[in-house]
Amino acid sequence: MTTETFRAPLAERALSERVRAVPPSGIRRFFDILATMDDVISLGVGEPDFDTPPTIVEAGVASLRRGRTHYTSNFGTIELRRALSDHLERRYGVRYDPATEILITVGASEAVDLALRATCDPGDEVVLHEPSYVAYVPAVVFAGGVVRHVATRLQDDFALDPSAVEAAITPRTKALFLGYPCNPTGAVLPVDVQDELAAIAVRHDLLVYSDEIYDRLAYGTYRHRAMSALPGMRERTILVGGFSKAYAMTGWRVGWLCAPAAILEGIVKVHQYGIMSAPTVAQDAALTALLEGETEVERMRAAYDGRRRLLVDGFNAIGLRTFEPRGAFYAFPLITSTGLDSETFAQRLLEEEHVAVVPGGAFGPSGEGHVRACYATSEEELREALERIERFVERCRAEG
Ligand SMILES: Cc1ncc(COP(=O)(O)O)c(C=O)c1O
Repeated sequence: MTTETFRAPLAERALSERVRAVPPSGIRRFFDILATMDDVISLGVGEPDFDTPPTIVEAGVASLRRGRTHYTSNFGTIELRRALSDHLERRYGVRYDPATEILITVGASEAVDLALRATCDPGDEVVLHEPSYVAYVPAVVFAGGVVRHVATRLQDDFALDPSAVEAAITPRTKALFLGYPCNPTGAVLPVDVQDELAAIAVRHDLLVYSDEIYDRLAYGTYRHRAMSALPGMRERTILVGGFSKAYAMTGWRVGWLCAPAAILEGIVKVHQYGIMSAPTVAQDAALTALLEGETEVERMRAAYDGRRRLLVDGFNAIGLRTFEPRGAFYAFPLITSTGLDSETFAQRLLEEEHVAVVPGGAFGPSGEGHVRACYATSEEELREALERIERFVERCRAEG
């Protein structure tokens, strides 16, 4: 007689443990509700309200008309890699060889995923600040790595404390993950903190993933420095960037990854077998963005800067304490004075006043008590959103 071992139905076994370990996105649910409603002001999605500037669009159209409808090199077009190499050298003083050290990717999203999958072995620890971009933890987990969180808090202006980073390092730590300017807090890395983080990476011989997709969206006196431009960092940094935010090109799906040749060689393997090459039309448009888009970047940045002040001042006036963001395009108000948790706040605000924001807990445990509001939205809509939020907050406070 055979003894049959019990097996759960396939539907329950199909997904890998890694995939099951990642909860569904806390943000998606809100967008599903939002899609069923009219008259919603969305401060939820992290993307520019501007359309891609016309010269960039025309470059894409011209590319298609020229018959550029085929694959490119796995690395991306050499023209775009050369232009990017010049761009990074001019802006940050760090030189990457266009032939061997630059990869054009399907957005910064693919670049983050590739960086992790190409470098993490099972159990490798990655030290990551939180609250931070929702895709970082899943990228580490899907790659088999383990996240070691370092909290940042409103009372410290969401500054990353280098000594807390160092305390999170263990013999299993492979890498430090930095996403600055930060989505969702808008915090940046001050010069001294960035220098200390670089020194820690060198001292512990760590790899550093640096997602600098918001490098061009910096306000006030803050001047972005590429992590790889710091002493001892080029050889250990995987630099990620993209066109989505600065050039209003989210839908084109084009970004980049720069790393020393020996590391990039391995990363390209993962990209080549999984993706082949980034969309050709998007690469051609991105080339024009780099070569001719500067005035447009500055025009949009200046607009975000004005909206930033409007929204931050507005939140503070309502009594929702808000840290002044120095980069990206998000405000991260504290909403605990309403007596609600961030999820309930976001859900009720959407249902009662038709304003969409993202619960802060989606970005890590220290995000609880906050919500994220994206100010890449017209001033008119921001003013209207503030009125609705004020009405909602007063109602919550009256409910006690
Ligand atoms: C910090 C951060 N990194 C990466 C991305 C993804 O950008 P892309 O559109 O280039 O994939 C986003 C998008 O919101 C982001 O906020």
